[in-house]
Amino acid sequence: MNSRAMRQRLESLEAAGVTQIPKSSGLGRQPQPLVTRAVTGPSRVSTPALPGAATDDRAHPLRLLAEEVAGCTRCAELAATRTNTVFGVGPRDAQICFFGEAPGADEDATGEPFVGRAGELLTKIIEACHLRREDVYILNVLKCRPPGNRTPLPDEVAHCRGYFERQFAAISPEYICCLGTTAAQNLLETTEPIGRLRKRWFTYGTAKVICTYHPSYLLRNPAAKRDVWDDMKVMMADMGVEL
Ligand code: URA
Repeated sequence: MNSRAMRQRLESLEAAGVTQIPKSSGLGRQPQPLVTRAVTGPSRVSTPALPGAATDDRAHPLRLLAEEVAGCTRCAELAATRTNTVFGVGPRDAQICFFGEAPGADEDATGEPFVGRAGELLTKIIEACHLRREDVYILNVLKCRPPGNRTPLPDEVAHCRGYFERQFAAISPEYICCLGTTAAQNLLETTEPIGRLRKRWFTYGTAKVICTYHPSYLLRNPAAKRDVWDDMKVMMADMGVEL
């Protein structure tokens, strides 16, 4: 098991309440799984610090950035209408990031990305990939809900760009999966439609980037689930996991 996988495994165990690992547990002797199979258990909405890491945690770049985002007033309208900023959730050293558009009403109310109907579908997609939601990092282009769920305005994306760029720099994922047009076009700085961005690999920093349809689009067009499944198979195959 590599150190990233080991750390994520330890964090999952810790989140599940495991405080001691017997020598005979086999941890460290397992073959190298790049991903863990979906299991049932308590879900985790943020990354708890490992024991003894409390001081470091306060200074972690993602913690500091989340605090900065929570106080952001760059978009006057969004700052005035939001209930919560929605920063992102998941392991700080996640191998995969799922990148969406902007919070909706449920996310604005809870402060967590992808918790509404589209979020439930995203969780199913993640689990169909033999991953658990808590194994991946989930974030959006915008950290505040656009009123009425309208598409983010260019100025709003510009105001948030530094935030998602710093998130990706801190996490340094191996894979970024862009969910829908807004995420794909803004990450890749292109105006190509999502249909033409699918089925191709891109890079962002050191990450491999793949684009697929947004779960909200799938709720309106269930036939496109097959396309998303094809895209997930391509991403997982690149990781050495056949679906
Ligand atoms: N749609 C998104 O793009 N992000 C969310 O967090 C929820 C819905």
